[in-house]
Amino acid sequence: MPNTELHETAAALVAEGKGILAADESTGTIKKRFDTIGVESTEENRRAYRNLLFTTPGAEEYISGVILFDETIRQKADDGTPFPELLASKGVIPGIKVDEGAKPLAHAEGETVTEGLDGLRQRLEEYRELGARFAKWRATYSIDAEKPSEYCVWTNAHALARYAALCQEADLVPIVEPEVLQDGTHTIEQSRKATGRVLQAVYRELHDQRLDFRGTLLKPNMVLSGYEASDRASVDEVAEVTLECFYKHVPAAVPGVVFLSGGQSDEDATAHLNAMNARGPHPWQLSFSYGRALQAPALKAWVGKPENVEAAQRAYYHRAKMNGAARTGMYAPEMEREAVPA
Ligand code: 13P
Repeated sequence: MPNTELHETAAALVAEGKGILAADESTGTIKKRFDTIGVESTEENRRAYRNLLFTTPGAEEYISGVILFDETIRQKADDGTPFPELLASKGVIPGIKVDEGAKPLAHAEGETVTEGLDGLRQRLEEYRELGARFAKWRATYSIDAEKPSEYCVWTNAHALARYAALCQEADLVPIVEPEVLQDGTHTIEQSRKATGRVLQAVYRELHDQRLDFRGTLLKPNMVLSGYEASDRASVDEVAEVTLECFYKHVPAAVPGVVFLSGGQSDEDATAHLNAMNARGPHPWQLSFSYGRALQAPALKAWVGKPENVEAAQRAYYHRAKMNGAARTGMYAPEMEREAVPA
């Protein structure tokens, strides 16, 4: 029997004008982010930073859900409210990263497979009790003349589907995140081919492992030319090629595609999403699940100082609002200037 709670949660995560904040940086990744602003990565600093984001007044107008890390889902806001409870009280759905990271894939130099399936059923049960209603698992793939290999594509697709099936069994919406990394000098055409191969394998495995697509979300990369490519594709080209690729490979039963930002500048990530939505309507909602592209200006404004909390919250609210506008194709770069926070 279809699980309507999963359908409702997936639909709520891609409600009109809203998207997801990815605040699930692992301890290693958040340390890298803090290093850029000269803040020590202590447990209390990580908590204070997440408190700043989650208590931003009005963010819930544009943010439907937040992805947490294992440490964060157990932490509390300044007033002692557990973070999942605080978010839920604002109508923001708590989610959890459940993979244990991309590890070297045996016999495949330079490629990775994401680990974390062992004991996952028990962990999902605990996360659901802690308040999570959705989960995330990220696989990564590189592009070059030989990569991604068929071996890497299918091994990760199989693991993504095993994770997703266990999530649905535990009444959690799986966000399926195959990220084709956009570093390097590849052309947009190479990115389209690699992304298409990856999506084709992912949907074959999700189908074979009996997933109910309506209770899932896809979190993919946009199709870009490599960040170091000499001749980079325009916003319109990115929108058209990404859509062409998704129309071929993503079933219409999937309620939403929530893009990752993957190292694009925050304004590029907004402009690309906007250009795709401006070409709508599409079979799926096209939304965001950004980490860096929602947080970068806030981190910079905060730099670990309590007196900067309000400025950092304004910066985060502003990016959430710009991406909320991009959800309906109503964003224009001039809005950045008009609405720049004080
Ligand atoms: P970025 O938007 O910074 O790529 O992060 C999204 C994410 O959750 C990556 O797993």
